[in-house]
Amino acid sequence: MTSNKNITFVAQPAGLLKGTLRVPGDKSISHRSIMLGSLADGVTEVSGFLQGEDNLATLNAFRAMGVKIDGPDNGKVVIHGVGMNGLKAPAEPLELGNSGTSMRLLSGLLSAQAFDCELTGDASLNTRPMRRVTDPLAQMGANVETTEDGTPPMKCHGGKALKGFDYDMPVASAQVKSCLLLAGLYAIGKTCVTEPAPTRDHTERMLKGFGYPVEINANHICVEGGGKLTATNIDVPADISSAAFFLVGASICHGADLTLEHVGVNPTRGGVITILKLMGADIELLNPREVGGEPVADIRVRYAPLKGIAIPEDQVPLAIDEFPALFIAAACAEGETILTGARELRVKESDRIQVMADGLQILGVDAVPTDDGMVIQGCGKIGGGRVQSHGDHRIAMSFAMASIRASDTIEIEDCANVDTSFPDFVSLAAGVGLKISQASA
Ligand code: S3P
Repeated sequence: MTSNKNITFVAQPAGLLKGTLRVPGDKSISHRSIMLGSLADGVTEVSGFLQGEDNLATLNAFRAMGVKIDGPDNGKVVIHGVGMNGLKAPAEPLELGNSGTSMRLLSGLLSAQAFDCELTGDASLNTRPMRRVTDPLAQMGANVETTEDGTPPMKCHGGKALKGFDYDMPVASAQVKSCLLLAGLYAIGKTCVTEPAPTRDHTERMLKGFGYPVEINANHICVEGGGKLTATNIDVPADISSAAFFLVGASICHGADLTLEHVGVNPTRGGVITILKLMGADIELLNPREVGGEPVADIRVRYAPLKGIAIPEDQVPLAIDEFPALFIAAACAEGETILTGARELRVKESDRIQVMADGLQILGVDAVPTDDGMVIQGCGKIGGGRVQSHGDHRIAMSFAMASIRASDTIEIEDCANVDTSFPDFVSLAAGVGLKISQASA
């Protein structure tokens, strides 16, 4: 599970980002492929599966509940589905490492099973807020316990008959939406959620791919309990959230010309492209196509001078995981970038507002954290120094990209969790021009 190795990235001012790159598979889609494949009737074959620690946590959880899963082997996974009611009680608590998506989606699914089980995680996951799922699940008749602080471990008490309901989500969160839709597959009647703003819709798309009807009317999404899933094959595209580091890296690197292949460009994940283009980035989507119900394209990105902007708040949920990388773009842009409406960043794998502001300040960037965002005065100059990632994969990779414009070496501590979403980041990044290596203590 989550590694306790102590890894430091050492990134030197970089040369030129050039070439073609396929970043690993989409983390969100990979999680859902294991979940729905396990509950389906028949055998689901997955290719392009992300073999990161978070997805392996989901995979191991389903194995522990009696599902036979072959692989992963080079991104290939074969899931022998057990049907909607075929999961078995795990012998031990399910250990979900750093993975908030596993924890929140499984809490919905498992609150509807006949058996009890416990979900736990690493030190970071065990501080993350879970009332956002346990409160609405309780309204459905589920009984999921957390600690007094509303954090994991979570105990799902089985054998409850869930009832469908209509829920107005207070937070724009795909994890909450997906948790409730998965619980809704087992509920009596219809379960509907209304989103305050669109969030990633991979659950809805994949449910349909497995033959499960989903009603979608703008921001109102419903499933009727009692249906079944039919196995299908899934080709997982490259993760736009991993591609994002290179979209920023190439945009800030004089002379860069990089093509990222087979990237998922689902519009509910497209905020990073929209925001970078508003800043003046040169990004082209080539060969757009649809793969297994998800839009995919190759993305060409070349250096362009960036300018600071006020980031439109409607883009925040569409780029929620990409702000650490976007803050680096803002530091290299000319003028002020203001982010508001992004309080959710404070409850991700780390407090991404505070941790990024602290690191940027160490590198000499004028970055001021606010309650719900950040104000960055871009000046193009980034110094060297030693920054902390606080065990947050996306913070680590974002500061690695900052080295492209740094005047001196950047050392980034506590990077082992990069393996949760982007195994081989260092070698892939070095392969297209970053001067990065890793040291382990
Ligand atoms: C995810 C949803 C997002 C995102 C996370 C993955 C998902 O979380 O930050 O990395 O796969 O549903 P929220 O829905 O809580 O914003």
